[in-house]
Amino acid sequence: MSSLYVPPRPQPLAALVSLLRVMAQGDGDLLSLLPAKAYRVKTGWLGYSRRSILIVNEPELLRDILTDPTDIYPKNDLMVGALEPLVGNSIFVSSGAVWRRQRQMIDPAFSHMRLNKAFVSMSAAVDDYERRLDESAERGESLSLDLAMSHLTADIICRTVFSTSLKSQTAVDVFEAFTVFERTCAQVELKRLIFDAPFAAIPQHPQVLEACERIRRHLGDLVDTHLTADATQYDDIAAEVIAARDVQTGEGFTRKELLDQLGVMFLAGHETTASALIWAFMILGLHPPAMARIRAEVAEIAGDGPISLEQVRRMSYVRNVFREALRLYPPITFIPRVAAEPATIGPHRVKRGAMLMIAPWCIHRHRDYWKNPHAFDPDRFSAEREHELVPGAYLPFGLGPRVCVGAGFAQLEASLILARLCRRYDFTILDARKVRPVARLTTRPAQQLMCRVARRADAVSSTQT
Ligand code: HEM
Repeated sequence: MSSLYVPPRPQPLAALVSLLRVMAQGDGDLLSLLPAKAYRVKTGWLGYSRRSILIVNEPELLRDILTDPTDIYPKNDLMVGALEPLVGNSIFVSSGAVWRRQRQMIDPAFSHMRLNKAFVSMSAAVDDYERRLDESAERGESLSLDLAMSHLTADIICRTVFSTSLKSQTAVDVFEAFTVFERTCAQVELKRLIFDAPFAAIPQHPQVLEACERIRRHLGDLVDTHLTADATQYDDIAAEVIAARDVQTGEGFTRKELLDQLGVMFLAGHETTASALIWAFMILGLHPPAMARIRAEVAEIAGDGPISLEQVRRMSYVRNVFREALRLYPPITFIPRVAAEPATIGPHRVKRGAMLMIAPWCIHRHRDYWKNPHAFDPDRFSAEREHELVPGAYLPFGLGPRVCVGAGFAQLEASLILARLCRRYDFTILDARKVRPVARLTTRPAQQLMCRVARRADAVSSTQT
């Protein structure tokens, strides 16, 4: 077991020491704030703040919360407040009847059929990205894995949702605006978590509002192109969402609702996958045995040629590497809910306004559910060892009725990207010792992760055009 690779993480410390560490770091990182206790308790109070915070690490209890049919545990108000300027009251943040209507209208856009079509666009986006990476490799320049993965996954979302590729300048603009948003929005400030009362209205910083406006302006252009076109012109996710009707009223989404809903697809649909891929490539760059196994599997299944959807589905090691990256670095670090009224969770009485912290980051590293919890071991997801998995202890895509609509999409996309890029390039991770994960809106490296890519000597030309 000693040969297992353990990738970077904040060392769990006692509560007070963790708080001092975060203050010293000065970036309000919630991962560094998590005390050692958060990785050990089943369910218990975290004693930092004015509002009570119950961390729920128990699969049975967190299932009760995430599947509760009575709407008493809606999305947490801090998170809703953070996302509202960006995505309005759309499917990711809404609750109750509003959410049910939205989900019913959006689900069909992620059907099996749609995934088959999306795969063609995903492959075309990777073709184009390989051309860019070839140039980078030729120039021998270093590049930011964060920007590279955001660019590629945003391009895939643009092509699959809006049938258009992402212009480079738009990609950079959205990436920069989103970085400002993630780092600066008031809800990620530690003092808000510690001192604010539940449901307190939190004004946003002007630069956050400006960043949201920049992102929404780009989205508005894309939505309007669809709305002004003939209804049969597009066959994509946006067209499907535009055509969706409320089963009760027969009404479709308004323009403002479309901007919110498609905005959430764009953001939830690329920043999350990008986050997981950054970590996957970092691990593969630092742990050659896993990289070698990926390449062997890709060579065996697809050889040098184009990779089909059916072949991607057969790449079980590639898929397990991605699953393990999602376990160690779940893009949605926390799935927070709030008690809208007093409630009882297991033996705990919770007041109205209590924050219910379901933390994939902690559950995925809890020693009661995982052997060598901090080690990278993709084979824990293999068919032979599947029986070791504890039901409900793995939830990168959430769980219950609000489980991620794009889970199938993301897994397909990520497997394709891993297979194609690992086959073609070597990745040298620069400054590996300085890497530190932090929890922003997604789990990210504290500083952009720089790497150098080189065409492999025996790399093949897999471009499909
Ligand atoms: C690795 C990639 C992804 C991860 C880890 C991820 C994770 C999650 C999680 C944890 C939730 C549930 C949050 C909660 O219950 O509070 C969620 C919801 C959602 N995700 Fe994803 N997601 C990913 C990719 C995608 C993609 C590709 C799309 C769309 C193209 C997408 C769209 C959504 C939407 C619309 C919801 C809200 C569902 C609802 O509340 O009914 N996600 N995602």
